[in-house]
Order: sequence, then C-alpha cells, then structure tokens
Amino acid sequence: MTALQLEKIDKYFGKTKAVDGVSLEVQENEMFFLLGTSGCGKTTTLRMIAGLEQVDGGAIRIKGRDVTRLTPQKRQIALVFQNWALFPHKTIRDNIGFGLKMQKQPKTDIDAQVENMLQVVGLPGFEDRLPGQLSGGQQQRVALARALVLNPNLLLLDEPLSNLDLNTRLRMRSELVEVHRRLGLTTIFVTHDQTEALAMADRIALMEDGKLLEVGTPHEIYESPHTEFTARFIGEKNSLQGTVSAVSDTEQQVRFNEDSYLSVPVSSKHPVQEGDRVTVFINAEKIRFFKADADTGGDNYFQGTVENIMYLGTSNKYSVKLQTGETIVHDQQTTQDAPKYEKGDRLQVHLDPAHCICIKEKQ
Ligand SMILES: Nc1ncnc2c1ncn2[C@@H]1O[C@H](COP(=O)(O)OP(=O)(O)OP(=O)(O)O)[C@@H](O)[C@H]1O
Ligand SMILES: [Mg+2]
Repeated sequence: MTALQLEKIDKYFGKTKAVDGVSLEVQENEMFFLLGTSGCGKTTTLRMIAGLEQVDGGAIRIKGRDVTRLTPQKRQIALVFQNWALFPHKTIRDNIGFGLKMQKQPKTDIDAQVENMLQVVGLPGFEDRLPGQLSGGQQQRVALARALVLNPNLLLLDEPLSNLDLNTRLRMRSELVEVHRRLGLTTIFVTHDQTEALAMADRIALMEDGKLLEVGTPHEIYESPHTEFTARFIGEKNSLQGTVSAVSDTEQQVRFNEDSYLSVPVSSKHPVQEGDRVTVFINAEKIRFFKADADTGGDNYFQGTVENIMYLGTSNKYSVKLQTGETIVHDQQTTQDAPKYEKGDRLQVHLDPAHCICIKEKQ
C-alpha cells in the first residue's frame, strides 16, 4: 500500500524554483530518506507534505486521498525539526500531552498515553522533569514522543540528529530505527548526511537543485548509482574520464589516456556506444594493491607510486600516482594483516572491472 505519493510537485520562491517536478512514492511502514546538499529543496518538500507550504503545481496523496489543498491539521502528519523547541516551563508530561489536551481528551487518558510513549522512547519516569533537566538526546526523544503520541499517518523528521554530538547521534540512529520497527510508522527522514541515510534507510531519494535524481536502497545507491551526481556524492570514489573505444557483448573498453585502457563490464543500467565520452567510477575501498613485481596480468592493473598516506584511525588513505599520470585514492582498513606501504613505494594498483561503474557524460 502506498502511504504517500507526490506527483510532480513544484515550489517557487520568487524566481527560485526550490522544488522542481518531484514525484515519488513511499510505501506503508517504510523508513524513507531524502538526501542532498544544502539548499537542494529537502525542507521545502517536507513542508509541502505537511501542508505548511502550498504547492505551486502537482498533487500530494496520503493513503490514496488527495490532500493537496488540505490544512496541516487535516493531514494528520507529525513533524520533528532540527531545533525541536519543547515548552521550557512545562513538564515532560505536559509537553508530550500538549496535542492531546488541545484535542480535549480526558486527563487520565492523556496521562496513560504519555506514559506509554515515554516507554516507547526509553524515558520512563521522566514525566515530572522540565526540558532543561534533560540532555540534548533525551530532549530529542521527548520531541519524538510528542509527535508520535498523536498517532500520525506520517512522521516527518528534518535533520533531527544534527544538533547532537557524534556518540549520541550514533546511539539515536539505532534507537530511531528500533522505535520505527516497533511502531511500524511510515517515516520520511531528511538529511544531508549520507552515512546516516545509508545506515538507517529502507530507501533513499537523492535530490539536487530541486529535482529528484534517483531512488534506491542504500546498497543500490552506493554500489550502482544511476547518475553521475550520485556517484560523486555518495562514498569516496575515484573517477577517470575517457572515451569508449570498443564495445563487445560483455565488456567495454574505455581509453582514458593516450594508450591506457580500462575494461568495464557492459551494464544495462548504463548503455554506451563507441565514441561516447564517459566517466569511470570506482569506490576508494574497492581498489587493491599488489607488489610492483607481482605476477598479476589481466585487466586494469597499473603501475604507480605512493604519493601520500593519511591516517584516519580505522583506515589509511593512500594517494597513488599512476604511471599514466592520474592519481588514485585507496581507503585501506587498518587491520593487523593489511600490508603497509610507505611514501615513495612502487606498487601495482588494481581497478577491478567488477567494481567499475561507467557513466556517460551529460551532453
Ligand atoms: N521561505 C523562503 N523564501 C525564499 N526562499 C526560500 C525559502 N525557503 C527556502 N528557500 C530557498 O529554497 C531553496 C531550497 O531550500 P530548502 O530549505 O528546502 O533546502 P534544504 O535542502 O532543506 O537545505 P538545508 O540542507 O540547508 O536545510 C533554497 O535555495 C532556499 O534558499
Ligand atoms: Mg533543510
């Protein structure tokens, strides 16, 4: 069942087209992410879903019902913003129960629901405290409880974790996934943090410049991006530009230098023809190193020299200048048995064809 459907929605602010023909479908119980750089239109899209902004074109449907012209109250949507203002002088009980009180529910019912919600977000016994007596992460959970207690059709979260320190953020990620799993509530989560999206999402929609570029599972978005923007935005990829010099049934050759070639498997997702200008992408952790004199043979092995090493804790980031002139970056886990290389070492770099993604340049 489709929980939410956006059909070619547009939004102008003056002459700026903040959202440009965005269409998407979110399924019931899905944890759906909108991901993109600052200013790409994520918050505006959320605000239109919630009814806080009117669309300038297109339609919004919730569970099949057209809500495009409905007020926010009639849409039954909960929104949690980055700066989740709690009422500072009200207790946690009154903060969470506020919406229910507005609905004129009896006090005993409200108290029972508030208690239940505090259990759900892992804060039982906090009813009588004031927001100022809670940590940032705990306040965030209260904000979530305040949204959830209204039993919304949809939960919209706009960068809800960006104010938290790294450890709290990581813990809240798992807690949100757990609460989502338990309640099974359709959730749309906005972030510009790709690691957050990859770690938490059922599916991710990539936005750029008001447009929706592609939708996929974290694995699809990371391993086989559709667009060049996604390839550059997600993960750390090496890119080599070149021209397709030959295409067979299974393989295509890309000439990226005078007489240097990359072999890339043919992909139905990215059809190319001889003569096309393309960029070949390969994730930094997918590169492999071999000794300079190792008897490798096969496609996509290149001689190179280590130019720089950056220690990142869990990995070392190597920059290697290939004989052909290009620089390749390799992210190598600092496991005990990982071979170590020094600056100036010569080695062979393998750009495994299985991990190469060849995307045609825009005309
Ligand atoms: N009320 C407004 N009036 C005028 N322009 C606006 C308004 N709100 C947003 N914009 C513009 O619309 C575009 C999209 O803004 P939006 O807030 O949706 O981006 P975002 O993807 O949420 O960015 P961020 O990650 O920085 O929060 C931007 O160019 C922004 O300047
Ligand atoms: Mg925003």
